[in-house]
Amino acid sequence: LDLGVLISGRGSNLQAILDAIAAGHLDARVRLVLSNRPDVEGLARAERAGVPTRVIAHRDFADRDSFDAAVVDALRGAGATWVVLAGFMRLLTTTFLDAFPHRVVNIHPSLLPSFPGVDAQQQALDHGVRVTGCTVHLVDAGTDTGPILAQAAVPVLDGDDRDALAARILVQEHALLIRALSWIAEGRLQIAPPDVPGGRARA
Ligand code: GRF
Repeated sequence: LDLGVLISGRGSNLQAILDAIAAGHLDARVRLVLSNRPDVEGLARAERAGVPTRVIAHRDFADRDSFDAAVVDALRGAGATWVVLAGFMRLLTTTFLDAFPHRVVNIHPSLLPSFPGVDAQQQALDHGVRVTGCTVHLVDAGTDTGPILAQAAVPVLDGDDRDALAARILVQEHALLIRALSWIAEGRLQIAPPDVPGGRARA
């Protein structure tokens, strides 16, 4: 599995990928780590692992399509055939998605379709749910709406604040992302026609 990993910040999910590869738990190579923001921790993590990095700043582009086209060029040039959004805080256009059809994976810190978008952990607290979690899904043009690959449930505990809950979810994110990527690396992912009941992606 030849991965491009898109990040915007801390990169702990990227680190989980790098660690799983180094430990022999994931049959993959990270061909490129690309950030839309300079000087983020995730870029340092990639450099420490000897993985190529690029910064492509969205502010340097006139519109989303031209930004996405530059990101596609960089990923293809590096040899990536699958893309992981690991805390990447930009929405992708069809320019991007058409270049990697059904080959873009996102990790989101809620049980989708609940709490899409920014700060899903605070959304869960504000709503008062007792169980939340994380979701790995294929990316489509919506916000956190594509076919679900895997989910893990995480309890909301009395007295949780946003950071305590986020930390509990993050542990599960790292494990779930590696599990889902392993299924893909093993060729176990099947995309069903959209009219099949119960979901569109199965491993
Ligand atoms: C994670 O909670 C991820 O689910 C969300 O953004 C956060 C990124 O964390 N999309 P990190 O950069 O992987 O540490």
